[in-house]
Amino acid sequence: MDDAIKILVVDDDDSGREALSRLLSLAGYDVTSAATGESALDLIDCQQYQVIVSDLFLPDKNGFDVLQSVRKVSPASEVIVVTGHASAQSAVRAMKEGAFDYITKPIDFDELKIVVLKALEKQKLMSENKYLRQQLQGRFEFDNIIGNSPAMSLVFERMSRIVKTDSAVLVSGESGTGKELVARALHYNGTRRERPFVAVNCSAIPEALLESELFGHVRGAFTGAVKDKPGKFEAANHGTIFLDEIGTLPLHLQSKLLRVLQEHEVERVGSNKTVKFHVRVISATNSDLESMVKRGAFREDLYYRLNVIPLHLPPLRERQQDIMHLTAFFLEKQCRLLGRAPCSISKQALEALERYSWPGNVRELENLIERMIVLTDAAIINLDDVPATIVGEKPAGDMCCVKMPSGGVDLVATISRIEHSLISEALESAGGVKAKAAALLGINRTTLVEKIKRLKI
Ligand SMILES: Nc1ncnc2c1ncn2[C@@H]1O[C@H](COP(=O)(O)OP(=O)(O)OP(=O)(O)O)[C@@H](O)[C@H]1O
Ligand SMILES: [Mg+2]
Repeated sequence: MDDAIKILVVDDDDSGREALSRLLSLAGYDVTSAATGESALDLIDCQQYQVIVSDLFLPDKNGFDVLQSVRKVSPASEVIVVTGHASAQSAVRAMKEGAFDYITKPIDFDELKIVVLKALEKQKLMSENKYLRQQLQGRFEFDNIIGNSPAMSLVFERMSRIVKTDSAVLVSGESGTGKELVARALHYNGTRRERPFVAVNCSAIPEALLESELFGHVRGAFTGAVKDKPGKFEAANHGTIFLDEIGTLPLHLQSKLLRVLQEHEVERVGSNKTVKFHVRVISATNSDLESMVKRGAFREDLYYRLNVIPLHLPPLRERQQDIMHLTAFFLEKQCRLLGRAPCSISKQALEALERYSWPGNVRELENLIERMIVLTDAAIINLDDVPATIVGEKPAGDMCCVKMPSGGVDLVATISRIEHSLISEALESAGGVKAKAAALLGINRTTLVEKIKRLKI
């Protein structure tokens, strides 16, 4: 029944509601019913219904309240209103307020079935449309790169300048921050978008093969070279070459790469003929190239050549406000990929994600959302669905796990003891600076001073 289309029937009239529910169930829908507006809203809060069939006149709330709440809480649901009085006025109002359609009592079941089918069809078209639009735009806009934080706004701003130029870009950032995603977006939004985007992961190719991968080889250049093969630079001609994990490039190839970039021509391995090319170079690294240069592990001249425009992607823990948007984006994406009805996340679960430090950055978040969706059938991801390793990272640790002793407890004294210990520790790690300790404890300085006095710390 989990994959069945979910319909909610709201009607205070018992026999009408039961008849409607039975008929829709027989038509293959997964039907839930509610006798009041309030109970309908409770149900909508914890479950996504594709269609809601609601009477306009309910004892507690009227159908318009239900309609308005649905539009807010579950905008993807379609509402069909049922009116006992064939009042054109209320029907028009319902349509204006976002109802999909209305039907009048006594209900003609065949008519209702057709209206439900039409509502479902509209929903399907809307989601396909949205998907196609995103597919189309995804290649040419930064639409598929999510981020509202000030840090990401700066990234977008810089990207929109970069797409107008042809200069070499060095994208830096921790693993999973979106370096490859950004590199592709720069290519597909730039003037070379019709030309190839060729990615080479310098760390994934064995060192012995890397040179021929990048620059190509001629037949007989080495054992196994049975025919001439162009390298990635030639393949990317007029387009973009993306040199991923550039920090892992061995020193001897760094020299060759520098020459190739300076002269805009390559020599295939085993050949002394040169081939001209014009490519834009975007490279990426998650190591600190500057310090590698200082240590002599990366050529300084090559570093400057690649790093004409630096683009740094901040780690996810430094842009906490993006977590909400990324979560919504990945939830929508995963549900669509799995052919599931859209699902959402509870406030507490989202807060847990926001508190976590995401060492694997956006990739870790994306993988987690996928895992959570696969492991639950519910329409709303709850705190229980979030793995303990992630929830456990809340600042309070598991301090709330103090067990109630069987002989009872002196609550006030126990709380004072906990306060005493936490404040002492906070003062210690803040080096005695009260303002800093107060910040660590999430209270203001005056409150801290009062507590220090009261607890005689
Ligand atoms: N801002 C973002 N919006 C949407 N998706 C994102 C964003 N940043 C990263 N992702 C997604 O996270 C995943 C990891 O991104 P990507 O492969 O570009 O990271 P990376 O920095 O190249 O990582 P690595 O250094 O490990 O190669 C991809 O699936 C990507 O689509
Ligand atoms: Mg990458």
